[in-house]
Amino acid sequence: MGDTVTILGLESSCDDTAAAVVRLAGTRPPQILSSIVVGQSDLHEAFGGIVPEIAARAHAEKLDHCVEAALREAAVPLPDIDAIAVTAGPGLIGGLLAGLMCAKGLATATGIPLVGVNHLAGHALTPRLTDRLDFPYLLLLVSGGHCQFLIVRGVDEYIRVGGTIDDAPGEAFDKTARLLDLPLPGGPSVENAAAGGIGDRFDFPRPLLDRSCCNMSFSGLKTALLRARDRLAGERGELTRSDRADLCAGFQAAVTEVLAEKSRRAAAVYGGYHPTAPAFAIAGGVAANRAIRSALEEVAVDAGLRFVAPPVHLCTDNGAMIAWAGLERFRLGLVDDMTLPARPRWPLDRSSGPMLGGGKRGPKA
Ligand code: KG4
Ligand code: ZN
Repeated sequence: MGDTVTILGLESSCDDTAAAVVRLAGTRPPQILSSIVVGQSDLHEAFGGIVPEIAARAHAEKLDHCVEAALREAAVPLPDIDAIAVTAGPGLIGGLLAGLMCAKGLATATGIPLVGVNHLAGHALTPRLTDRLDFPYLLLLVSGGHCQFLIVRGVDEYIRVGGTIDDAPGEAFDKTARLLDLPLPGGPSVENAAAGGIGDRFDFPRPLLDRSCCNMSFSGLKTALLRARDRLAGERGELTRSDRADLCAGFQAAVTEVLAEKSRRAAAVYGGYHPTAPAFAIAGGVAANRAIRSALEEVAVDAGLRFVAPPVHLCTDNGAMIAWAGLERFRLGLVDDMTLPARPRWPLDRSSGPMLGGGKRGPKA
């Protein structure tokens, strides 16, 4: 291996088909040479959620085009790629298999090494791609299928210090949007609606805030929102624009407060690891939320931690994070062969047991 490494990354674990080319040359900052993301929201909208079979078929149809586009945009021919990284889990089995078949086909035809990547590691290592963060750092991974605090100690070394015991916040944002007839994905529409709302008109719960642990719960919040909506609809016949805005603002305020308070506690646990350059990073789709980002930044500043929030397009699912995680593994000699399996459940912290609940990706990893 020379001092330049160029990786093609493929992502198809949920409802985004993505491919990207990432390069690391010597001591220069890593470069994202291309990043193609094709969403599927339009295909699933009518069903009110992701339909795994439809997702898998769409991935199978779109992956080749995404790979071609990523190589073309990066101006890197396939033989110049050092390794092909692919999400092998956790996620929806059909999508994972579509990605693995594509990556294995390319690797077999060209002899280029294959690197299986954990989707969560893709999110968790993104702050190293964007901000060259050193290990160990505290990470809040908060997305549509996951919510956990991790101490990231190495490319393959994670300690989970807490997480959701039921829904993931992104899932709760999506359900809120559905209950209020707002378009999917719910996060951005609820955030936009909340911008004009009054956050304390409704008294939404802050579950598990009274417990000292770093675990969280979001399913009760969704039920509280449903009750508030039905009460308003019962009183007035229908919801006004400002009712919707206030419901969204109240919901977002509750999620934000829970995430911020639990981050404070996770920061205290992380402090016990005595990092030389202490940092708190966020990743995952919900980390795109501006209210949540600024509340978490405040927590970091108060705790004396450097705060790292990757740009929004690298918080939501993308191929660059998989290419980067693959690059980190490849540099350590961690390559796979054609027996690489798809793993619907694949926790980053192997010593931690499964959490309760089942999100849009199935059981919580
Ligand atoms: O990381 P991601 O792209 O996919 C998963 O791994 O789940 O996250 C998608 C989730 C969706 O649930 C979406 O509603 C949520 O992230 N999301 C947001 C925002 N943008 C995306 N949630 C809150 N506010 C946002 N601005
Ligand atoms: Zn994700």
